Amino acid sequence: MDATRRTILVTSALPYANGPIHLGHLVEYIQTDIWVRFQKMRGHECHYVCADDAHGTPIMLRARQEDITPEVLIARIGEEHRADFAGFAIAFDHYHSTHSPENRELATLIYQRLREAGHISTRTITQAFDPEKQMFLPDRFIKGECPRCGAADQYGDSCEVCGATYSPSDLKNAVSVLSGARPIEKESLHYFFKLNDFTDMLRDWTRGGHLQPEVANKLDEWFEAGLQDWDISRDAPYFGFEIPGAEGKYFYVWLDAPIGYMASFKAYCARSGLSFDAYWQKDSGAELYHFIGKDIVYFHALFWPAMLEGADFRTPTAIFAHGFLTVNGQKMSKSRGTFIKARSYLDHLNPEYLRYYFAAKLSGGVDDLDLNLDDFAQRVNADLVGKVVNIASRCAGFISKRFEGRLAAECPDQVLYQEFVNAGESIAAGFENRDYSRAVREIMALADRANQYIDEKKPWQIAKDPEREQELHAVCSLGVNLFRVLITYLKPVLPRTAALAESFLQGGELRWDSPRTPLLAHAIAPYQALMTRVESTQVHAMLDASKENLQTTAPAVPVSGPLAQDPIQALISYDDFAKIDLRIARIVAAEAVPEADKLLRLTVDLGGERRNVFAGIKSAYSAEQLIGKLTVVVANLAPRKMRFGVSEGMVLAAGPGGKELWLLEPHAGAQPGLRLK
Ligand code: 2FM
Ligand code: ZN
Repeated sequence: MDATRRTILVTSALPYANGPIHLGHLVEYIQTDIWVRFQKMRGHECHYVCADDAHGTPIMLRARQEDITPEVLIARIGEEHRADFAGFAIAFDHYHSTHSPENRELATLIYQRLREAGHISTRTITQAFDPEKQMFLPDRFIKGECPRCGAADQYGDSCEVCGATYSPSDLKNAVSVLSGARPIEKESLHYFFKLNDFTDMLRDWTRGGHLQPEVANKLDEWFEAGLQDWDISRDAPYFGFEIPGAEGKYFYVWLDAPIGYMASFKAYCARSGLSFDAYWQKDSGAELYHFIGKDIVYFHALFWPAMLEGADFRTPTAIFAHGFLTVNGQKMSKSRGTFIKARSYLDHLNPEYLRYYFAAKLSGGVDDLDLNLDDFAQRVNADLVGKVVNIASRCAGFISKRFEGRLAAECPDQVLYQEFVNAGESIAAGFENRDYSRAVREIMALADRANQYIDEKKPWQIAKDPEREQELHAVCSLGVNLFRVLITYLKPVLPRTAALAESFLQGGELRWDSPRTPLLAHAIAPYQALMTRVESTQVHAMLDASKENLQTTAPAVPVSGPLAQDPIQALISYDDFAKIDLRIARIVAAEAVPEADKLLRLTVDLGGERRNVFAGIKSAYSAEQLIGKLTVVVANLAPRKMRFGVSEGMVLAAGPGGKELWLLEPHAGAQPGLRLK
């Protein structure tokens, strides 16, 4: 047996079975799929499983609304999800559902082991109850007036106007979203997982190299606050698994969701013959990785390892968290058409474009990733069409027409070819560490080098001289071989383009080490276009299809974040525009807000009047750089209460985000307070 061959099980978070897959989800599935494909190409045994997350109140209610059973709903959505994933070439080895016999069996087993070991407790709690619908109400199903600022129509857990957090019983004039009835308080017995029993184990585990450093640091805050018992039961009616020995009580959806990873793998074992225990038993030598979004770290880095430990299973090798997707620098928005469903994208654009763009921007950390649609089109066209595919199309025609489709028997520049082969290990390290942006950068540097070689050799000129046939053959054959190396390295990212290239090259399946053996004296197929350019009309058609309603209340100036260059922003009238009071201001003080990744707290002088403004520009400017600078602020923006204080205006900045954000800087002689009209 090959001692370097690893055995790996990989998961992505399970999408809820009550809504469509959108581009925000796809960051994760594309990230994971690239990693899994890379591991497989390296020759490791790697399995990728996932499932629909099918339980919980929202799914139960959505089914009721549609007048169907939850089972019918989750079957339908499950099919849609599978089709969307297939569309993006996300190659799960198995895709399951948490509403499955395997999951019921494993959830029961884990619960029973935890209970036998004394890690489950019960106590009676009081909760809001809808007397008409006869059900307990999750916080998001209660609305009323904010107890602090009086704003109407606020959810049971927090106020979107003043930012206050509270419990549903504090809301004034609260009503159930489901029936409009006034909720009553009602007691019931709940089951708890005693997370605190695992404090020592989790302290070690979270510092044991299983988490990204920024995630481990975040967890410290939770340890400081003390680990609380976790409420794992919900009362009927609930769509889920009934707790054994507790009639009318169901496992909370988040209890059986991660167990769904095991259940999916178990179902996969049944059809593939793999051993479930070899991957999940305590001393398993297999590696186990969960790719997740940063919003669900708490469940995966605390509850999940504790549940596994308490039930005598192995714990994960690592949890890989990623950030959120923004589109054109802002949260995805239905009114701007940037809430893009997987299906809408697939109706208009090649999925490989998005896989490439995400890969080019993913760097293994938890930073948010921006899909800037202009940059997207420009980058795909310049890199993939303009550089990579171009190499093949520049050389292949000569091979077909002049050399009967056969590559030369010798390589005319062994040093250059070897440079390409040698780069493989560094590129592999980029993929392995999920620093795909680095891998892509290195691949594109090689693509530049290959194009430079062809530019220097000028095969189109050599071709005019009958005495230089052999040279033409050698140069074009090397060009095709250099293309082959590039497409091998890009194969985890571009599986379909790589498959087309494999048919063209006729050299069998490309594996990570295939470049070590160049194709010499070898017949290739006639070249056919491997990829076409992204057209802006396609991007616009996708945005139009995604736009639910242009006449919505999209703000004239975005309420948070930089001003994005969004060509499709909803139109405002001149009168609306005239209401904006833009003034020149001088930044007189600036400091970072330590609790917020993106925010700086600025004190701006509007010609005598000073304001406190929070600006999301920390990624581009340090506090020191800003002091003394002039800028433009929206002076009549309603004050906004934030977690760190009140923001009394907005500074204007532009750019795609990250380091590329620029404050508007008026001429140095401009006077603070001056109104811009
Ligand atoms: O946040 C979500 O979308 C959940 N459905 C993810 C579950 S991941 C795992 F724990 F099952
Ligand atoms: Zn409020």
